[in-house]
Amino acid sequence: MKYEKLAAPKGVREYLPPESQAFEWVRQQLISPAKRAGYQLMELPVFEDTALFNRGVGESTDVVTKEMYTFEDRGGRSITLRPEGTAGVMRAVIESNLDRGQLPVKVWYSGQFFRAERPQAGRYRQFYQVGIEAIGLDDPALDAEVIAIADQGFKNLGLKNYRLEITSLGDAQSRAAHRVDLMKYIEKLDLDEATRTRAELNPLRLFDDKRPEIKEAMASAPILMDYLSEYSRNHFENVKSYLDDLNIGYVVNKRMVRGLDYYTGTTFEFVHEDLGAQSGIGGGGRYDGLMEVLGGQSLSGIGFGLGVDRALLAAIAENTVPVADFTSDLFLIPLGEVNKSVVLTIASEIRKSGFTAEVAFGDRSLKGAMKGADKSGARFVAVIGDSERESGQIELKRMSDGTSISVKISELQKVLEA
Ligand code: HAM
Repeated sequence: MKYEKLAAPKGVREYLPPESQAFEWVRQQLISPAKRAGYQLMELPVFEDTALFNRGVGESTDVVTKEMYTFEDRGGRSITLRPEGTAGVMRAVIESNLDRGQLPVKVWYSGQFFRAERPQAGRYRQFYQVGIEAIGLDDPALDAEVIAIADQGFKNLGLKNYRLEITSLGDAQSRAAHRVDLMKYIEKLDLDEATRTRAELNPLRLFDDKRPEIKEAMASAPILMDYLSEYSRNHFENVKSYLDDLNIGYVVNKRMVRGLDYYTGTTFEFVHEDLGAQSGIGGGGRYDGLMEVLGGQSLSGIGFGLGVDRALLAAIAENTVPVADFTSDLFLIPLGEVNKSVVLTIASEIRKSGFTAEVAFGDRSLKGAMKGADKSGARFVAVIGDSERESGQIELKRMSDGTSISVKISELQKVLEA
């Protein structure tokens, strides 16, 4: 019987060698600024009770109404694959009383997220984010630091062709004032039933509607930014002035609304210029009511999620992926059975001193093994036969120019360092 080949599910992005090395590099670069700022890892389940996202992300969002992977588990519970990370972090913080300790609670996370969107370049049904959340303090300096951490991640990748857009979605008072006028405006529009229901849940959603007729209808709608309370206005001014002090460029986008309902106050997006339609490489903001909505105390929070898949696409577009980082320092070829253990020992010693070393396995011809060495892109190659083993002296071939140097095995490390 011949079995059919199977394919990955539609819209799923996976990373295989050699591309996976670039992916891993991107992920590390994006998250390292958060680690340096004292954020600690939170490792959370990829599925949660559906109610968490209904309540946390919001019933008016596309994410909740159209894009969740929801199923009943064997115990009859409604479970959802996480479409985003913030609600789960908040659930865990409340459940483990982390918010009763030192504030802000500062955590980072990294992993897969799931949204049943229409797949296209840069938009997948399983995608990767790294993110941070800082929970428990409302301080504009914290907002600026969170934005700066995201920005540093993109700078680590060498990206230049992106911009930071910021806005303020105001506090409860600002939004209540804006809502009155916005609802009056929306009532006069000719809308279908579903859109009207949506607007009642969250009228800001209409600013995010992609249909041309709605876009046009909303073009002169009242803007939240014009309704900010004094508190929200001052808060936003302070965030901007800290960003100025940090030399972080931004544009204020008064019409920005994000795709999740929990945002309040400072809200931001990083937009890359070479990525076409799926240009959002990261986004985040404050969510000052979220903890309470999820049954916790009334504490504020702010964070971001950066799209690892899209950041990789951006790094490829800007040609900043450093190929040299992924190649081995040393490729060792044993001649004959007896020299395999010598080679394994040298490789293991070299790795202990922080270099990467690969070994040629199997009993290929020397020519075949040299081909392997070539393909590996290693900086140096050495062949170890009986005479090398006995003398402790090897010929190290530098692959960039083909030159060879004679080196004592005990001094290999020094040469690799140079
Ligand atoms: P988000 O804007 O929905 O925010 O997602 C953050 C980033 O994830 C986006 O900017 C994008 O780069 C990437 N992303 C989203 N959906 C997809 C997709 N289908 N395919 C590929 N990449 C995608 C959040 O998720 C919030 N939890 C961020 C946050 C944290 N806000 C506060 N704290």
